[in-house]
Amino acid sequence: MSNKMWGGRFSERPDEIMEEINVSIDVDRHLFAQDIAASKAHAAMLANQGIITASDAKNIGKGLDTILSEIGKGDFTFKRALEDIHMNVESRLSELIGPAAGRLHTARSRNDQVAIDFRLYVRDVLDETDAALAAFQAALVNRALEHAATVMPGFTHLQTAQPVTFGHHLLAYVEMAARDRGRFQDARKRLNESPLGAAALAGTSFPIDRHATAKALGFDRPMANSLDAVSDRDFVLETLSAASICAVHMSRLAEEIVIWTSPLVGMIRLSDKFTTGSSIMPQKRNPDAAELVRAKTGRVIGALNGLLIVMKGLPLAYQKDMQEDKQGAMEGFAALSLAIRAMTGMVRDLEPDEAKMKAAAGEGYSTATDLADWLVRTLKMPFRDAHHVTGRIVAKAAEGGVALHELPLKDMQAIEPKITKDVFGVLSVESSVKSRTSFGGTAPKNVMSQAKAWVKRLEKERKLG
Ligand code: ARG
Repeated sequence: MSNKMWGGRFSERPDEIMEEINVSIDVDRHLFAQDIAASKAHAAMLANQGIITASDAKNIGKGLDTILSEIGKGDFTFKRALEDIHMNVESRLSELIGPAAGRLHTARSRNDQVAIDFRLYVRDVLDETDAALAAFQAALVNRALEHAATVMPGFTHLQTAQPVTFGHHLLAYVEMAARDRGRFQDARKRLNESPLGAAALAGTSFPIDRHATAKALGFDRPMANSLDAVSDRDFVLETLSAASICAVHMSRLAEEIVIWTSPLVGMIRLSDKFTTGSSIMPQKRNPDAAELVRAKTGRVIGALNGLLIVMKGLPLAYQKDMQEDKQGAMEGFAALSLAIRAMTGMVRDLEPDEAKMKAAAGEGYSTATDLADWLVRTLKMPFRDAHHVTGRIVAKAAEGGVALHELPLKDMQAIEPKITKDVFGVLSVESSVKSRTSFGGTAPKNVMSQAKAWVKRLEKERKLG
């Protein structure tokens, strides 16, 4: 038998391989809730417009509810021969309510149907990601409050640069997550137009009300061009782009955790909850979760690349290539969601070794800039000269194998006679971070007020949300 949904002009069954390459139910079954919601809105609109009868619409609505609960309970048999979620639902609807089911597809095509289903799905992903990122931010902010004055080395080129506070370091990721959330929120605004009613590509001759279905499904308006409506996948690309940047942020923090937990560094410890052992080396505590977050980034970026490649050569309007938009995207979104949740857990869980951090912060002449700044401020030296003098003092300390604050005053004075013992006031790591009070700087006081501002902001959001 040929396909009963579109088999009118076919007399033969599709080849097995044809079925295999064409079938999408394994992936688009995840759109069942969205498919049913969109169909319910469509049927109600058709009845309101007098295109189908109120009683047909009522039966369609009831039948769709039954299917929703069947699928929810796992009582639904998805049939591969029916290709996709749209035809699986419609076929079951006709078993349940008979010929009225055939009226649901009036003024609609699978092209606008799949477009609206996937938009609804991605919109949910955007909302869930935003909530996950808010929780990630809250975890970071809490730890930043706790560690506003905990000193650690700040790095450039992964070489000790200047002391910073651990709270400041954590708040850097709060800012990144805020930009991520902004990108997801922007994507949501552009996504939130309804393609339903574009039909196959040209619109329809039926007097449908696209504004009504758009509103019923929470969209701001219907999309203005039917060709664009069925062929646009920008909303997936944009979400995956934002997701890729976000995944990169997760990966960077994951990488830092890997470095910090290495016994070579030993600045933080993860609890057993986020660590694994080795089957052969009993001493090992491996940061697997962080490593996997780092790796999952590849899936997200891969999904973006994959879809860009699918879309790049497609003429208007719908092309079957676009069926390949879902699997990679869904996997990419799932990978990001897991990455954010794992990072949130690790941030809550990690324990800095404050003594080690402080010792490391003082290594590598990390307060040399403070010495140069002191020369500028106290001796009114031009910064370039101060830089040179400091360089010589650092060389002298390195020669004797001592830290800057351990170098005798007379050794400094041999290089610059005007230096006084007051200089020792700026050479400790604590005084260094304390002095960095410029806006956005690492001073504990700044970190505290930034962290408190974030607490307020996140609280306000929660109340509004
Ligand atoms: N399964 C299809 C997809 O995901 C639905 C649209 C099919 N449209 C068509 N004209 N065959 O893209």
